[in-house]
Amino acid sequence: MPNKQRHILVTSALPYANGSIHLGHLVEYIQTDIWVRFMKMQGHQCVYVCADDAHGTPIMLNARKLGITPEQLIANTDKEHRADFAEFNIGFDNFHSTHSDENRELAELIYNRNVENGFIDTKEVEQFFDEKEDMFLPDRFIKGDCPKCKSPDQYGDNCEVCGATYDATELKNPYSVISGEKPVLKPSEHYFFKLSKAQPMLEKWTQSGTLQSGIAKKVTEWFKDGLKDWDISRDAPYFGFEIPNAPKKYFYVWFDAPIGYLASFKNLCEKRDDLDFETYWNEDSDYEVYHFIGKDIVNHHTLFWPAMLEAAQFRKPTAVNVHGYLTVNGTKMSKSRGTFINARTYLKQLNPEYLRYYYAAKLSSGVEDLDLNLEDFSARVNSDLVGKVVNIASRCAGFIKKKYAGKLSATCTEQAKYDDFVKAGKSIAELYEQREFSTAIRQIMALADQANQYIDAQKPWVIVKQEGNEQLVQDVCSVGLNLFRILVCYLKPVIPTLTEQSETFLNIEPMNWESINTPLLDHTINKFKPLMTRIEQEKVDAMVEDSKDSLAETTKHKGQPPKSEQRVSDEIAAEIEFEDFAKVDLRIAKIVKAEHVEGADKLLQLTLDIGDQTKNVFAGIKSAYQPEDLEGKLTVMVANLKPRKMRFGLSEGMVLAAGPGGKDLWILSPDEGAKPGMKVK
Ligand code: 2FM
Ligand code: ZN
Repeated sequence: MPNKQRHILVTSALPYANGSIHLGHLVEYIQTDIWVRFMKMQGHQCVYVCADDAHGTPIMLNARKLGITPEQLIANTDKEHRADFAEFNIGFDNFHSTHSDENRELAELIYNRNVENGFIDTKEVEQFFDEKEDMFLPDRFIKGDCPKCKSPDQYGDNCEVCGATYDATELKNPYSVISGEKPVLKPSEHYFFKLSKAQPMLEKWTQSGTLQSGIAKKVTEWFKDGLKDWDISRDAPYFGFEIPNAPKKYFYVWFDAPIGYLASFKNLCEKRDDLDFETYWNEDSDYEVYHFIGKDIVNHHTLFWPAMLEAAQFRKPTAVNVHGYLTVNGTKMSKSRGTFINARTYLKQLNPEYLRYYYAAKLSSGVEDLDLNLEDFSARVNSDLVGKVVNIASRCAGFIKKKYAGKLSATCTEQAKYDDFVKAGKSIAELYEQREFSTAIRQIMALADQANQYIDAQKPWVIVKQEGNEQLVQDVCSVGLNLFRILVCYLKPVIPTLTEQSETFLNIEPMNWESINTPLLDHTINKFKPLMTRIEQEKVDAMVEDSKDSLAETTKHKGQPPKSEQRVSDEIAAEIEFEDFAKVDLRIAKIVKAEHVEGADKLLQLTLDIGDQTKNVFAGIKSAYQPEDLEGKLTVMVANLKPRKMRFGLSEGMVLAAGPGGKDLWILSPDEGAKPGMKVK
């Protein structure tokens, strides 16, 4: 038990129940999980909760597109997310859903208290309405020409060409992304949270040590012009919770999303006797609450959320910890480069603890972006974890097992060194607590270097061959293994699986931060099994190859899809010259053979007849077609695309398809009269 046991509730942002977890999301879950594991090792009551963020228009429309109910869609995603998180060792104490009874009750309670305390207003708002779909359109579902630079096909909230922000009603030639129709303006009554009324409280709260200094400063800029009231309602059809006493009006997804933190915790309290919802969340609670989030959702967590809580007589968070985005190889994640990597694609090739370690080695308490450089990733993991840490155990274990029946020496011949390693734990603990993981890792690796230097200098593999050194070899290897034990204890929050395997090998109970205060003496260890192997380059290549979306080659993708409203279609790529287009040799191709590709999630292998030649093409259309449905069909292919070596073979062209993706991807089948090899004009 620590001197004073703390009670700490921790959350990570709730992932949308509308997409897969990718390596960008994992920065946050890994950062939070390391912090929570560390706090648990200190003996504190630390509880980590999360949930799927299940409401909103994109989920409603995606379910519709898939021909399933939103409930089915979120159930499928729940399963997928849980499996991904579990394999990455994200140790949630509870994973719930915002589409839950607890969340409905809490959302209603908070809203009703907000009403009673005078924080809710109604106002008539004119918004774009899609008459064909009979629904109001969120900004992300309207496109048109930018009012500033006139660029076509810009979203209803900002222009990605000139960066202007505007109201959707300012777009020229607007159209609905759902139906393609021109939307009309229609009035509707909306419910607003009076953020302006909360401004004095927020000005204090945001500047009272709850936020990193850069974030606190950024927030003050928002106060300058006065906070605008926040629209928390959406009209039917919508997937969410209906607002009490307001038929056909729903809570906007961002209203009930953070309440999902409370709902998940409440659901956990129902399962655990040692947790009490009220004690954590009453207005005067001295228990601690921390939210870990990305820098794109700061306003929701530092303005709307504390204001909603205050206006409902709940306590506010102790702190909001903000991190930066992930870049891969120095740039935004990209589908065409194969660096938009899903958790599952990673897991097919690589050990999750490699990534946990690499992120830890790069994370600090700041909001800077974190770069996953794939070369550096292999080099770092291989050199630190395999080359330094695991190496200590593998150099010492064999001698102890073979020559001393697995028994460590009865005395520690390097007590001073051992004590130094233990002392270092104080600074490493402070660094973990401050979220300065990269510095903690640097200090741990400096200790690993010292341990290796000790073994290098003692050379047990040499002295074992000289007579009279029986005791010395046992002592040296026992010191080595005791130092190894300290290192894995310090790394336990980062690489829990390797630590657990090491605990089994060392034949010890699960460690906490204090377990290593005295060395293991006269203690029998178990047989050593390799704890971690090196990262193989082929595995990294295969992961990148598997993440490549061949259809994204010519389509611009944003590194991180916008979180607040997800897209239903991609942007048009940058303009090209006529000469560029003229270089493309488009031909009618007959699909003579279509087959599954072993080990590829998205690809089909197509044999294409273009008259005088046959081409082999790997096309990313598996989600849309069964191979047998394609054979005999005609399509259009780029016949002069430079052949590309893929993991599965050579791809000699590209098949043209269009559509939003998934199962709605259409191969263009020309009319009768088209013959294989014909040029497409
Ligand atoms: O940005 C997102 O991915 C949101 N689903 C995060 C919600 S966090 C919380 F407020 F619920
Ligand atoms: Zn513009």
